Amino acid sequence: MKPGKKNHALEFPFIVVWEFRVRSGRRRAFEKAYGPEGDWARLFRRDQEYLGTELIVNEEGPLRYLTLDFWTSRRAHRRFLKHHQAAYERLNGQCELLTLKEKLIGEFDHLGGKPACAQTRKSHAGTGKLRPATASDIPRMMALERNLVSAARWSEATYRGIFAQGSRASIACVAESPVCGVAGFFIARLTGDECDLENLVVDAEQQSRGWGKRLIDELVSQARARGAKCINLEVRESSRWARSLYEKSGFAVSGRRRSYYRNPPDDALLYRREL
Ligand SMILES: CC(C)(COP(=O)(O)OP(=O)(O)OC[C@H]1O[C@@H](n2cnc3c(N)ncnc32)[C@H](O)[C@@H]1OP(=O)(O)O)[C@@H](O)C(=O)NCCC(=O)NCCS
Repeated sequence: MKPGKKNHALEFPFIVVWEFRVRSGRRRAFEKAYGPEGDWARLFRRDQEYLGTELIVNEEGPLRYLTLDFWTSRRAHRRFLKHHQAAYERLNGQCELLTLKEKLIGEFDHLGGKPACAQTRKSHAGTGKLRPATASDIPRMMALERNLVSAARWSEATYRGIFAQGSRASIACVAESPVCGVAGFFIARLTGDECDLENLVVDAEQQSRGWGKRLIDELVSQARARGAKCINLEVRESSRWARSLYEKSGFAVSGRRRSYYRNPPDDALLYRREL
């Protein structure tokens, strides 16, 4: 590690390490593409949970380089790959002629790094706020749910209907970040002393930062304050993340509806939380 440079490994929990053998005559181009300010680093910077890259070299014997890419968490890295797969593969193709061989050494969690990860996730979500949704949020809400296969799809008229009924029959809340505006929302309906969660969505780019949990906590507290005795919801059986969020938030499976969803087909699991 070069003197005077920040030692990311001491601060950040997740590191991806690759080893490269560089083609003769391509050393300078390789360092330019793979260094801390190179093409790869610029691509990774599209995600705010990328923390930096170190490039290290072993000049004894055949020229070998290691890149160390620092991320706030394994999950953040995985999410980046999912959302930028095409750009990643394009750049990989462009860099093919620079190297003879490349090998993923491994993906490492820094021992004791968990608190840094948790703090980063919390602080991203923590900089935003939750507020009641209004009819002016409808276009953004529709744009968010249209991007996510597992979210419920509603027409504009359905959204308008919810706000037209006034706040007595429903609870609608948005999560708002100073960086990206509305990052997610939920809509729930109150019927007697029961509350049904009808939609919960967090922008794909904003997921895994604690917004979902904050929205559910807000739903629980508002439903309780409005006299509800329980919250019900249904979710695709294949929506692993959503189910994990609900289970962590005190919901338990109360039933199943076979082949309830289409496009793609799926069972619905019913969840319930007593308040
Ligand atoms: C489900 C959804 C709302 C979760 O929102 P989120 O902001 O990503 O959730 P959080 O960051 O608060 O995470 C809460 C929990 O969800 C689960 N989770 C979230 N992201 C995850 C990931 N990438 N991998 C695994 N679990 C994940 C975890 O259990 C997490 O708890 P943890 O942080 O203690 O590990 C979001 O993924 C979403 O909008 N999905 C598409 C729409 C949808 O399925 N809605 C539910 C319809 S019923």
